[in-house]
Amino acid sequence: MTKQTYEAVYARWQADPELFWAQAAQDVHWIKSWDKVLDDSRAPLYQWFAGAEVNSCYNALDVHVENGRAQQLALIYDSPVSDTYQNFTYQELRDKVATLAGVLANMGVAKGDRVIIYMPMVPEATMAMLACARIGAIHSVVFGGFAANELATRINDARPKVVLSASCGIEPARLVAYKPLLDQAIELAEFKPEKCLILQRPQLEASMVPGRDLDWHQAAAQAEAMDCVPVAATDPLYILYTSGTTGVPKGVVRDNGGHLVALKWSMKNIYNVEPGEVYWAASDVGWVVGHSYIVYGPLFHGCTTVMFEGKPVGTPDPGAFWRVIADYGVNTLFTAPTAIRAIKRDDPRGLYKQNYDLSCLNALFLAGERCDPDTLQWAGDLLGVPVVDHWWQTESGWPMVSNPLGIEPLPVKPGSASKEVPGYDVRVINVDNEEAAPDEIGDIVVKLPLPPGALPTLWQNDIGFRRSYLETYEGYYLTADAGYKDEDGYIFIMSRTDDIINVAGHRLSTGGIEGVISAHPDVAECAVIGVNDELKGALPLGLIVLKAGVTRDHEQIVREVIQMVREEIGPVAAFKKATVVQRLPKTRSGKVLRGTMKRIADRQEWRMPATIDDPVIFEEITDSLAEVGYGPEAVE
Ligand code: COA
Ligand code: AMP
Repeated sequence: MTKQTYEAVYARWQADPELFWAQAAQDVHWIKSWDKVLDDSRAPLYQWFAGAEVNSCYNALDVHVENGRAQQLALIYDSPVSDTYQNFTYQELRDKVATLAGVLANMGVAKGDRVIIYMPMVPEATMAMLACARIGAIHSVVFGGFAANELATRINDARPKVVLSASCGIEPARLVAYKPLLDQAIELAEFKPEKCLILQRPQLEASMVPGRDLDWHQAAAQAEAMDCVPVAATDPLYILYTSGTTGVPKGVVRDNGGHLVALKWSMKNIYNVEPGEVYWAASDVGWVVGHSYIVYGPLFHGCTTVMFEGKPVGTPDPGAFWRVIADYGVNTLFTAPTAIRAIKRDDPRGLYKQNYDLSCLNALFLAGERCDPDTLQWAGDLLGVPVVDHWWQTESGWPMVSNPLGIEPLPVKPGSASKEVPGYDVRVINVDNEEAAPDEIGDIVVKLPLPPGALPTLWQNDIGFRRSYLETYEGYYLTADAGYKDEDGYIFIMSRTDDIINVAGHRLSTGGIEGVISAHPDVAECAVIGVNDELKGALPLGLIVLKAGVTRDHEQIVREVIQMVREEIGPVAAFKKATVVQRLPKTRSGKVLRGTMKRIADRQEWRMPATIDDPVIFEEITDSLAEVGYGPEAVE
């Protein structure tokens, strides 16, 4: 067979996208074939594989049990924080999931019902997602680092019949009691789920609400295994909430059929992984990376996936990732650049790596935030394998721009996520609303229709979907990232165009944080900016204007707003610094100049905006930033 090139595969997709995806779909087990590969009858809303029936859990588990992988490991659970290590073969995982599906059915969950999963990184979280898929229920996983209020918002929007949770999560320095957060969220929410299924972990026992809460293991002991239920390819598999500009999270919908085809295709063509290999995404099931590449992608492809409940450093040392790779023969590792920066910070010479045999590792993939060339270089030098920076979002569900290792490794340009993946026609639009010239920065957009696997809409909100993503440029999906393409077609992602910041690879809305701070009784107004951080990429910093006449201690007020953000949004916001300022710099029309404040804080060049009447304000801001360690005057 002649070796395929990236150019040839991309051209083949461009020539006939429907044929391309219909061919990729041959790798999937369908219960009923499609009537139409692409249904464009409601354009600009599109659906893939209309008329087809499928089951995502069947494709993740049963198909492999039936085709020779029953005794192969499907899932490895490695938890240094609880000192627990467990393996599940495909058959074992299928049986556990089938029983859990029976538990859900006993709790009254049926096809189309929503189930919220609020769990730490334990195997039961993966089982919960697959059990929902098995019976056609729609799961919505909420990351454990979010507080009760965020969980309540999601409960109100998804209206779940039941919630699956655990007694606690384990962070290196503390136990996180999930159950009280869940109880509080249900209290806060207008919509009340009927039942909760609680996994009691030995580290911390949760108290149960009689009549509402069921014990996971007791319920499983009484349940019968359930078979896979056929669902429409276009039915939602899950909803995953992600930060939006308004501070109100957006419910990104993923369908069954398109998702299955796209993820399976990506495993071979992007990640260059073969069935039977070990694939480890060191992320969390609460994020899209966890959905696509801890749970669904590797299992659709017949790989062994790893769930790691720990951190890159401190559990117990910066060799944790290397230990896991060596212990399980990991072939492909996926993580966020911040994890590599954390390892580099604690072990700059990479000495811990010497304790392990990493000859099994073929490649390291990085995403979630911009990867600085230094981190890319350091990881490449240390590991001696290709390090691939690739770009995607919760909305796309799988990579939009990547070096497609399984098609053809392309030359690397540090700072670029490489080229657009077949399925994605990525363009850059400049300030004049025209397609940008090479190297000219602009809005990054994707020509419609988006490929299979990308979001078809927002949960019960077609209007919001159109408004957020489709209306800025007709015929294009707005990614809300800015960047440029160079002459060779390499894409460089530079920044967000909205108020989203990436903190340790976690996506947060500064507007959402501002909303919480503004509710403090002493606060007149505030601005939150994402300042550069060597470890986490960005950190939120609050600038607070107090109401006239407030004489209370400023430090006390700052402590209170920090606590409020922790309680309302969650520790994941990493909001630890704020300062009181006299006033905020604004344009004449009243727009707060967050960008200029960020440049000052980051010690970058900045220009006095022409729309400012009183330039002294920037001197005040510079002084205030210095007090919290930012800007040119900062006390080091
Ligand atoms: N449940 C409850 N709390 C959680 C949590 C969870 N699942 N995950 C994180 N938190 C808490 C942490 O305990 C921490 O709280 P603290 O303020 O009391 O210390 C806070 O949220 C911030 O957590 P984190 O971002 O993990 O920061 P950290 O300082 O503990 O660790 C890194 C820094 C770089 C090691 C860590 O961010 C990391 O491993 N990042 C990998 C990136 C990643 O997985 N990205 C996902 C997208 S690919
Ligand atoms: P999330 O939806 O949480 O996965 O966050 C998606 C956002 O993270 C993107 O819109 C980008 O802003 C950023 N991002 C993800 N991967 C990359 C990357 N490789 N380079 C630059 N930014 C990235």
